[in-house]
Amino acid sequence: MATQGGDSYSYVAYQSDEPKFIGLAFEVADEADLAQAIADHGASDVVEMDLPGGGRSVSLFDPNGFRVELVHGIASKPALQSYPEWQMNSPLGYPRAGRFEPKRPLAPAKLFRLGHIGLFVPSYLATQAWYKDVLGLIPSDVYHVPGQPHVQIVGFLRLDHGEDLVDHHSVALMQSMDGRVDCHHISFEAQDFEAQFMAHRYLETQGYELVWGVGRHPHGSHVFDVWRDPDRNRFETFSDTDRLKKSDGTRIHNIHDVEMDVWRSDPPDRYFS
Ligand SMILES: [Fe+2]
Repeated sequence: MATQGGDSYSYVAYQSDEPKFIGLAFEVADEADLAQAIADHGASDVVEMDLPGGGRSVSLFDPNGFRVELVHGIASKPALQSYPEWQMNSPLGYPRAGRFEPKRPLAPAKLFRLGHIGLFVPSYLATQAWYKDVLGLIPSDVYHVPGQPHVQIVGFLRLDHGEDLVDHHSVALMQSMDGRVDCHHISFEAQDFEAQFMAHRYLETQGYELVWGVGRHPHGSHVFDVWRDPDRNRFETFSDTDRLKKSDGTRIHNIHDVEMDVWRSDPPDRYFS
C-alpha cells in the first residue's frame, strides 16, 4: 500500500493465520551502504526486491528479532495531488484574503509518507544501542525511571543526516513491562491537522475504533491521532512534527515529569495494551 507522497509503497501486509509484525525498512543513500552492512554487521546477501518499484535490499535482525531491511534503488512514482494548502487566518495575520475557502470532503486522510514506527521491546537500552551502533540513529528525547537517570525505558530516535534536518524521531522504543516484543504503532504523515481532524470524523462514521487523539505530543510536538485496524494494529496520523539536526543533541527526562499530550488528555489504557 502506497502513501501519496511518491514512495512506491509504505506498508506491506501478507495474509496469515494470526497478526504478526515482521519488521521495518530504511532507505540507504547508496548501493555501497548495502555492502557495508554485510561487511560490518553481518547482513544477509543483497537480494533483488520483488515489490513495486524494484530495488535491492539486505536484511538484519535487531536484538528483539525484528527484521530490519536496508533498501536502495526503489523507483519512486509521481506524488498524488494534495489539498490546496490551508492558510490559517488568525488575529496575528489574515493571509486568506478575499476568497471563499474551498471545503475538503469528509474522507480518509491524504497520507504523504511513513514517518515513524513505535516498538515495544524488553530492554530499551539494549535496543537503543543496536539502533545507534548499526544504523547510526540519535536519541532525541529519552525517559528514565524517577531518580535513576541511567535506567532509561523510553526513547525517540532520529536519523543522522548531519546538519540536515530530519524528523524528531523515526523509531520510538518503549520498554514493555511484561517483556513483550511487538509493534506499538505505525505513523503516517498527514498533510496538516485539518486533514487529521476530518479523517478522525470520517473514521468515526465508518465505525472504526479510536485509540487516542486528537492530541499533541510534547516531544516531537506533532499532532497525533491513533486508531486500530481490524487486526488490532495501531495506526497513527501525524502532522506538524519538530525537525532536528545532528548537533541538536539529546534531552533526558524523568518519565514522571512527562505529559504525553500537551492538550492534556490522558492516554487511555488501550494506548499501551
Ligand atoms: Fe507516533
